[in-house]
Amino acid sequence: MRASQSLIKRIAQSAVGSGFRGVGKFSTGSISYSKADQTGNAARDQAGPGISESTTHFGFTTVQENMKEKLVAKVFSGVASKYDLMNDAMSAGIHRLWKDYFIRKMAPQPGTKLIDVAGGTGDIAYRFLNYTSNICNDNTSTVHLVDINADMLGEGQKRFENTHWMKNNQIKFNVGNGEDLNFIEDNTYDAYTISFGIRNCTHVDRVVKEAYRVLKPGGVFMCLEFSKVNYPVLSE
Ligand SMILES: C[S@@+](CC[C@H](N)C(=O)[O-])C[C@H]1O[C@@H](n2cnc3c(N)ncnc32)[C@H](O)[C@@H]1O
Repeated sequence: MRASQSLIKRIAQSAVGSGFRGVGKFSTGSISYSKADQTGNAARDQAGPGISESTTHFGFTTVQENMKEKLVAKVFSGVASKYDLMNDAMSAGIHRLWKDYFIRKMAPQPGTKLIDVAGGTGDIAYRFLNYTSNICNDNTSTVHLVDINADMLGEGQKRFENTHWMKNNQIKFNVGNGEDLNFIEDNTYDAYTISFGIRNCTHVDRVVKEAYRVLKPGGVFMCLEFSKVNYPVLSE
């Protein structure tokens, strides 16, 4: 699980280019930006530096852009039912701490409308609703969980079945590509999250541009992703 600092930098560059104003939270594994007023920079559609038009990264290999989506789909359909177990095993449970921290950093207020893209089995959605219910005593916040893979999303749906959040219409699910959220209107959400998902997307610039579009002015973009540790001992 080697980290990619250049990827995070590219996300940040794309985010700024798309009209996000950095609010500085650029730590080891997460970045967050708040959306500028509509009078801010116009969105730009540009590829990140260092990646050609026709190839992209897939894990540690380079593949044709048009192959990546299929390869990613195959990986996640294959592991969907075991994904949560695998995540715990591969990270020794640490991903839970990162995700808890991520939601604490968001510190959602009552009534927050969140979209969680590449939401998979619902780890971020679950923590968000848990936080708003138990810390804010709020039953009006909502989360829209979007994932390109129906198998992963299906596991997420199972997790929320019979919960009070489901009964209270605080969560909904959509199969969809983060690069093209055409079923969502502009300026809809207070917060946009993407956790361990952006590296799986073929065109990061399109993901960021769509995030910008669906966020309300002042809305917050948060990305949790692997990154490079700079301390010499830890980085080895
Ligand atoms: C490593 S999982 C992360 C799941 C969850 N966010 C988490 O933190 O546990 C990556 C997810 O990204 C989804 N994904 C990949 N490409 C996507 C895209 N272009 N749009 C939406 N989801 C995508 C995959 O289907 C998969 O569910």
